[in-house]
Amino acid sequence: MARKTVTCTINGINREYSVDVRSSLSDMLRGEEGLDSVKHGCDVGECGACTVLIDGRPFNSCIYLAVWAEGKNILTLEGLSDTKGTISDIQQAFIDEGAVQCGFCTPGFIMSSLPIINSDTPYSREEIRKQVSGNLCRCTGYDKIVNAIEKTQIKRIQEKKA
Ligand code: FES
Ligand code: FES
Repeated sequence: MARKTVTCTINGINREYSVDVRSSLSDMLRGEEGLDSVKHGCDVGECGACTVLIDGRPFNSCIYLAVWAEGKNILTLEGLSDTKGTISDIQQAFIDEGAVQCGFCTPGFIMSSLPIINSDTPYSREEIRKQVSGNLCRCTGYDKIVNAIEKTQIKRIQEKKA
């Protein structure tokens, strides 16, 4: 099987791997890096459980070839904690709002929400729902997830103004 070297940045650290050219980015992140927040859900781009940021934009890593990651900046949920392992405000908000049950979908939802909570412009609840519409949850009900994202968005905008 053909292999290719991929050099990229993962959670702020430069990495280089030799990958099967048919491998997905989710396989590379889980297999080579042990980043278990990147879930294998549907594996066909339908559920969002494998969402990561690539150069700042959310992608389903199960349908993104590992070789396409050459030169890219990849962020997974593990990269949101600080150096002491303290979780980020959006992760805490999911806990506080009861937006986590089995937790399988949670990393993907959080990664999809990052463009919202990093924006200077507030998103309405409908816009939040649209932004995360590629992510599916079987347990929680979407209101609590939207609550957590909205709460974090408001908090961050207030912090920027302070
Ligand atoms: S596992 Fe990638 S979209 Fe479902
Ligand atoms: S919390 Fe279980 S799938 Fe979302």
